[in-house]
Parts: sequence; structure tokens; C-alpha cells
Amino acid sequence: ALPVARTIAELREIVSGWKRQGFTVGFVPTMGALHEGHLTLVREAGQRADRVVASVFVNPTQFAAHEDLGSYPRQEAQDAELLAGAGCALMYAPAVGEMYPANATTTISVGAPAEGLEGVFRPQMFGGVALVVAKLLNQVQPHVAVFGEKDFQQLIVVRRLVRDLDIPVEIVGSPTVRDGHGLALSSRNAYLSAEQLEVARRLNGVLAEAGAKASAGERIDEVEAAAREALLTAGYAHVDYVAIRKADDLGEFGSGVVDGPARVIAAAWLGKTRLIDNMAI
Ligand code: PAJ
Repeated sequence: ALPVARTIAELREIVSGWKRQGFTVGFVPTMGALHEGHLTLVREAGQRADRVVASVFVNPTQFAAHEDLGSYPRQEAQDAELLAGAGCALMYAPAVGEMYPANATTTISVGAPAEGLEGVFRPQMFGGVALVVAKLLNQVQPHVAVFGEKDFQQLIVVRRLVRDLDIPVEIVGSPTVRDGHGLALSSRNAYLSAEQLEVARRLNGVLAEAGAKASAGERIDEVEAAAREALLTAGYAHVDYVAIRKADDLGEFGSGVVDGPARVIAAAWLGKTRLIDNMAI
């Protein structure tokens, strides 16, 4: 069975033992309910390091009070088996009290990269992500950490955090893993009914079409509006945003048209489930 560390001390003992033996360390942070997307990150980390640690921690500081912290799927035994099968050497699954002692008061604010898009609709989230990722990176002290492009803004926030705080780790982004219909795998897809799943699978096509129009020179605001309409027509209940932005920092194109590397990114609701996706243009 896969070894599991529950405390920072246990984790550090194992990881420092590896480092004494000359092994490099890769790290994949997760909130569990693992699927092929997470496991691809673990295998990617295994290509880049001798030993891979994966954390499974449903981080309360990145959920707002009305969000799904309580109902977020938890299946640790199955996660441990999946991680072992993907070549992970250690699961790090701390309790909330180990991660956040009652007298912890420090917060992290990344600034501009965390403020648009997801930051508008989930203002709580990136502060919590930045805090837990900074803590996890200090706890594990890996040489390399792998994040999914599925959460593209998160990847940008993490890159900025690591640079601004001089955390000595290489951040690697890994492409989004999709099902046979193009739907990005997500732990939250488990919330979808069969009918909702059909609608969910339209998201990537709408984004691909928007990307094609924008790269053909159509005005960004018009392409975004058409994509929003297409999602509502497809059966999405509500669209938080569809945006065509610069690929490096998700900033806006001042010209109103795509004139450099771009990303189309969206968040939309199916019932009580919020889906996000993005792709390169
Ligand atoms: P979680 O949603 O569990 O995702 C963990 C990692 O898996 C993230 O880097 C995410 O981008 C990646 N991932 C999820 N679905 C993917 C897919 N279909 N293809 C490729 N990668 C995918 O993201 C978080 O957890 C948390 O915010 C965390 C970083 C762990 C901090 O709490």
C-alpha cells in the first residue's frame, strides 16, 4: 500500500531521506477525488523527478461559505490506490488542523493575476490557493511541482507567487485531460446528471469555435458575446464569463482583436455545478 504522511514532520522525514540519497522530488498538489487528469500530472512529475509526492487536501480557505466544501467528494482509499498505480511514492494527506493551526493569521494576496475572471466570481479562491500552495511547497520542498492547464488562471497565479516569494521550485504546466467528447475531466463532473453531462460536453466546442473566430480576426467583444449566447442556447443555466485573453498573463488585448498568443477561457453553470474550461487559440 502507498505510504501516507499525515503530519509535516512525517512528510519531512521521508522527503529529506530521499534527498540524502540523492533523489530529486516532484510534487502534485490535489484536493483528491482523483481522475485521469490528476494522474497525468503525477506521471508528468515522475518523468521529471525520481520520487513523486501527491497531496490530498480539501483546502477550506479557498472555498467561500456558500460553496461545496462540505460536499466536495472525499475518497481517500481509492485515491491512494490510483496514486500508487501512477507511480507516486508518497501521499501527503494532512488534517485541517495540521495545515491551519488555530492561531494561524498570515494571508497571501497575489494581486493582479488573481483579480480578473475567476477572481471576480470567486473572490475568496486565489487567496486560499496561494496560501495553501505556498505552505505545501514549503512543507514538501520539491524540486519541481506540476499543475494542470485546466485551471489556467491558477497556474498563472502559482507561477507569480513562486516568483514573487522566491520559492525555489520549478513550476510545470500540463495540458488538460479530456473525455472522448472533449469535456475536461473534473472532480465536480461527478455532480452532473446524465442530461447535464450532454450539455457539459458542448463547452469545449463553443470555446474552440470562439477561438477560431478570434484568430481569424473577428472582434473579441463580438466573439465573446456570441459564445455566451451559444452556451445559453446549448443549455447552460448561466455564464459567469467567456473571455479571450493574452496567453501569458490573461490580460486583455488593448486592440480589441487577437494580435498575439491567446487563450479562450470560460466559466458556466449547469444547475448547481460550475464548470470551467480554457484552450489555446
Ligand atoms: P484539484 O482541483 O484537485 O486539481 C489538482 C490539480 O489537477 C490542479 O493542478 C488541476 O489543474 C489539475 N487538473 C484537474 N483536472 C485536470 C484535467 N482534466 N487535466 C489536467 N489537469 C487537471 O486545483 C486544485 O485541486 C487546488 O486548487 C490545489 C492546487 C490543490 C490547491 O488546493
